[in-house]
Formats: sequence, structure tokens, C-alpha cells
Amino acid sequence: MRVGILTGGGDCPGLNAALRGAAKALIHEYNAEVIGIEEGFLGLIERRVKPLSYSMVTDILDQGGTILGTSNRASPFDWKGKNVAQEVADYYNELGLDCIVSMGGDGSMTMCYEMSKYGMNFVGVPKTIDNDLASTDRTFGFSTAVGVATEAIDRLQTTGKAHKRVMILETMGRYAGWIALYAGVAGGADIILIPEFPYHLDEVIDAIKQRHAQRSFTIVVVAEGARPVNGEAIISKAKVEGAPDPIRLGGIGMYLQKQLEDAKIESEVRTTILGHIQRGGTPSAYDRIFATNVGVYAASLVAAKKYGRMVTVHRGHMNSCKLEDVAHNVKHVPKDNMTLISALNMGINFGDPDLKIPLDSLEDDKINMG
Ligand code: F6P
Repeated sequence: MRVGILTGGGDCPGLNAALRGAAKALIHEYNAEVIGIEEGFLGLIERRVKPLSYSMVTDILDQGGTILGTSNRASPFDWKGKNVAQEVADYYNELGLDCIVSMGGDGSMTMCYEMSKYGMNFVGVPKTIDNDLASTDRTFGFSTAVGVATEAIDRLQTTGKAHKRVMILETMGRYAGWIALYAGVAGGADIILIPEFPYHLDEVIDAIKQRHAQRSFTIVVVAEGARPVNGEAIISKAKVEGAPDPIRLGGIGMYLQKQLEDAKIESEVRTTILGHIQRGGTPSAYDRIFATNVGVYAASLVAAKKYGRMVTVHRGHMNSCKLEDVAHNVKHVPKDNMTLISALNMGINFGDPDLKIPLDSLEDDKINMG
């Protein structure tokens, strides 16, 4: 077997662990020849690959980033205004590849699905700090991002308390609120605003007033994709050339700060945008293990010729789904998510007065640990 590996989209802690797992298993267990494709789909467009040996993927388990490089703006369907999909497929055939293991988020999985129509074989590996890939309960990178955001909240707690301020933390996550929700609960936030539930400003102000009557400082975690009711998500860049999703979100933290200041709330407000710090650096132990597992499992799918599929984990079990189930899809935080339910039942405010999920309204086995 001759198998390509690429890491596509935004980088993410655990990418090296996943590619190490896939490459080692392909070489050790399946005696395959492994070819590293540089910078995701860009390497296929620009014809840049290198052989990967067993020793080349050692000592990278704990490293952030990706030894192959990545790009989240290299779509073969819109490369400098041209469709180069056929050229990419020709290059794949020239390389004599049986399959490409593609480690990416929904943009990469969508490209794999579309490129498979040109006769290329892919096995997907679910990567993104956002945890927003459909058909899988978890993506690697998420645990690390939540850890980083939680540490940021811990630090905002002490300075917020010292100055009696409202401290806003803006997290990443695109159109889903996973990072904000999980870090918000882990860090003991008072208010969590996520895209799934557009917020009412009055409700947020009331929650701050109630909180200040008791504790005099408030921690607000807001996901970059959150928006007020009757408002839109805030966009920081509207057209990233060549990107499967050309929109970059960002700015809701400062927008909310201004809304609160305009409403003349008593306390000072400060905003921290966590940004790419969530994506860089050492993966957590959980992400190293999870990434290793999905990488090795991907190798077994390649060996079994189960192409056109992405590795998934569902209710603690390894499986795979069709790439088309992931393409053009977003996994939002569902209302049966236990972390959301815990937050609500403890009185954490989501800016939505109608959002109530009593635990006894759900059957035991129907609650999702997510
Ligand atoms: O998908 C991962 C992610 O980090 C999102 O959370 C964020 O919106 C986006 O990528 C940022 O992309 P870029 O690296 O292009 O700024």
C-alpha cells in the first residue's frame, strides 16, 4: 500500500500525535509506504510531498502544530480563482496512492468528499478545537483548547474580583458553542453566551446586577459565534481567499462590552480575546491519547479499504461515518447535553430567559455526556 497523509485546516493540538499514530500503524502493522503531503491540500495543488519513515514521526507526540504544515485556504475548487480539482486528482494518480488519510475539520472533510468524486480515496480523521464535526461525539484538540480557556478564566477570576469588574472572555468555536460552554463550566463562569441561544441584552444585564448584589464581579464567557437576538454574529474578516469557509468570526466580546457600557451598568467591563492561544502548544494527555487512537483506527480503515469514511467516536465506541455525513454540516450543542443542563440547573445564565431544561424532563439514558 502507498498511503498519503495530510493535515488540513486550522492547526490543532494533537495533530502530530494523530499523524504519528496513523503513520506508525501503517508502517508497523500494515507494511505500507507513507507519503507526507505538505500544508494540507496546498501540497496537492503545488505538488509538494515527502516520504515519511517510522523514525520521522517519532518524538513528535507532545508537539503542537503539525510537522507537515497546514493551510485553511487551499481549496482545489477555488485556487486563485481557478478550479484545479482535476490537476489534483492527476497528481494523486501520478503518486500512485491507494488512499489519503486526511486529518481535518468540516472544511477538509467537505473537500475530501468533493475530491472523491474525481476518483481519489480518503479516510478522514476528526480534528478541530471547535468540536463541531457532525457524526462524532469528540474531535481531538478540543480538550486542550478547553484547558487553555479554563486557565484563562481562572486568571480572570482573580483580577476581576480584585477590581470588582465584569470580565468578558471571547473564545473560538465558529458557529458552535462547545469551547465556551465547557470552559465556562470548568472555570465557574457566571454567564455563558453561545451561538445556539441568541442572547437578550436585558437578561445579561439583570444577571450581572444579581451577581453583583452578592459577589461584585462577574465572569462572562462568550463564544465568537454568539449573537444578540435579532442581531448577527460579528465578522472579523469577510473574505479569506481560497478558504472553504471564507468568513472569520471575532469581535463579539468588544461588541458586548460596548452594549454593557452603553447601558451604563455600574461596574467597569474588560474584554480578553483568547484567539489562537487556544490552538497552539502542547496537547493535553487526553488529546494525545484520543488523537493516537483515531490515527491508528484510520490506518485500519485504509487497510480494510473502507474509503470515503471519517473515523468517529460515539458513546465511547470507535466507528466511522460517510464523509458526506460530515461535509457541509455543523454539530451544535444539543439541548440534551449534560454540561449545558448542569450549567442551567446551577443558575449559570445563557442570556435566554426561556432556556430551561429541568433534569427530570429527560430520561436517564437519553442525556448526552457529549
Ligand atoms: O476551526 C478552528 C478555528 O480556530 C476556529 O475556532 C476559528 O474561528 C478559526 O479556526 C480561525 O481561523 P484562522 O486561523 O484562519 O484565524
